[in-house]
Amino acid sequence: GAEVVINGSSSPAVVDRSNESIKHNIQPASSKWRHNQTLSLRIRKQILKFLDAEKDISVLKGTLKPGDIIHYIFDRDSTMNVSQNLYELLPRTSPLKNKHFGTCAIVGNSGVLLNSGCGQEIDAHSFVIRCNLAPVQEYARDVGLKTDLVTMNPSVIQRAFEDLVNATWREKLLQRLHSLNGSILWIPAFMARGGKERVEWVNELILKHHVNVRTAYPSLRLLHAVRGYWLTNKVHIKRPTTGLLMYTLATRFCKQIYLYGFWPFPLDQNQNPVKYHYYDSLKYGYTSQASPHTMPLEFKALKSLHEQGALKLTVGQCD
Ligand code: CTP
Repeated sequence: GAEVVINGSSSPAVVDRSNESIKHNIQPASSKWRHNQTLSLRIRKQILKFLDAEKDISVLKGTLKPGDIIHYIFDRDSTMNVSQNLYELLPRTSPLKNKHFGTCAIVGNSGVLLNSGCGQEIDAHSFVIRCNLAPVQEYARDVGLKTDLVTMNPSVIQRAFEDLVNATWREKLLQRLHSLNGSILWIPAFMARGGKERVEWVNELILKHHVNVRTAYPSLRLLHAVRGYWLTNKVHIKRPTTGLLMYTLATRFCKQIYLYGFWPFPLDQNQNPVKYHYYDSLKYGYTSQASPHTMPLEFKALKSLHEQGALKLTVGQCD
């Protein structure tokens, strides 16, 4: 069969940042986008050669025991011990075991969602994935409320919950966790050593207050496997973002995938300013050399997949 062309251009990615967003025009929502099922299936098969979302979405209880030593993926010289709490929260079986959905939404955190009116459309998908515990209640009209899986990088505890310095912040986090109401909370606990205490605090809170969430902690091989898949397709990412990880995993159990809130550019398609996150004042940092991400490069790949019908990107208003 034909190749999946994700990065068609062979020229080096010379980026003129002055008008980056102009070059990423996506057709209006209602125009002729069609799902390409053959291509989606081919992508699923290809990704399965690198990882299996059903397995790699979480380490399972049977494979670790308290006291086991884990080397951080990005800090190989640093280790952590599997705590009793972490062990308790490991799932016995994969939260995605035998799961299949007609359509899935992956909601990125770009400010492009503001005034999109996409909430209802997002909530209508069978499975909704969100990133980094982004708030929904106050933004429901634009981002929806339904949450089946939400990710939480340990750094979120610092950025959005003041490292739980006092009872007020602990209560805030607790409320947010309670509101998840049985959905999957996906915590990359083994990536970088900086998150050690933060992961432990969250684990403790969940157990102490009997929070109704299904915790999942991605496998040690997931990051490299995802990166391997994209590198093989000539998408030269450094470290995949949460959003790209979610798309890669979703190909396994979603027939059609719809992306919202993916727009790593400071101007929208009409040249109006766009916030980096829809819910806070964090600034664009991805362009700096220090950033581990290459979001515009990822976006280019996703845009190409959109044009081929393998996924649908929405970067403007919903109908
Ligand atoms: N995203 C995007 N454009 C933005 C912001 C986010 O496309 N302006 C997408 C990215 O795929 C990102 C996901 O939405 O991974 C979730 O956003 P965020 O919480 O910022 O994700 P992180 O990958 O954790 O990025 P960071 O390292 O900046 O926290």
